[in-house]
Amino acid sequence: MGGFLARHPETGRALALLKARALTSGFANDTYNSLDSLIFVNAEGTATAVRWAMVPEEAARPPEGPGVGRDYLFHDLIGALARGPLRWHLVVTVAGPGDPTGDATVPWPAGRRQVDAGTLTLVRAESEEGGPCTGITYDPLILPEGMGPSDDPIPAARSAVYARSFTLRSGEAVTASAVTGTAIRSGGQ
Ligand code: HEM
Repeated sequence: MGGFLARHPETGRALALLKARALTSGFANDTYNSLDSLIFVNAEGTATAVRWAMVPEEAARPPEGPGVGRDYLFHDLIGALARGPLRWHLVVTVAGPGDPTGDATVPWPAGRRQVDAGTLTLVRAESEEGGPCTGITYDPLILPEGMGPSDDPIPAARSAVYARSFTLRSGEAVTASAVTGTAIRSGGQ
């Protein structure tokens, strides 16, 4: 790892940023940042480089001590959903002139224009057991119309790796899910 970091100082800088980021108490009150840039194209064909974040409506709270059990983050989330829906806002940050789109390790300056582009509402959790997620490929380049890749090389690399992984795991026996349908039906207990 030391050798890799010496050859890739940008990775060391990105790891320092990750380490400085405040942790929250769980999945429900955390912000999820895309890091990678995308190009949004409007109806007139104008292209705009953006990064996005899913920002929770729940206020961020620091961790409340070590959780109980290996899967406590999942069980906490299931418990929160049993009490009511959870919402995140899709906040799109628009690149300023010269902001790097091809290097996900470099943050853009603060104060860039941001647009609240929509709301994600989670109303229930679903277990892998009988759920559709095993049949999904999480290829980050399968994008809706109006969104396309930037010159960021990471999504293209991920696309190839995810296709290979999907092919390999499709041929494997399915193992039991860590978070069962029973746990979900009982509200994360
Ligand atoms: C922005 C950075 C990344 C994000 C947000 C991300 C996110 C994800 C997500 C959400 C999944 C699906 C997880 C699940 O099944 O529960 C996944 C799977 C996976 N990721 Fe990443 N990932 C990132 C970077 C990478 C990189 C750089 C690699 C390796 C080159 C990688 C390799 C994989 C593989 C092999 C899978 C399993 C794919 C499958 O079998 O369908 N990821 N990732």
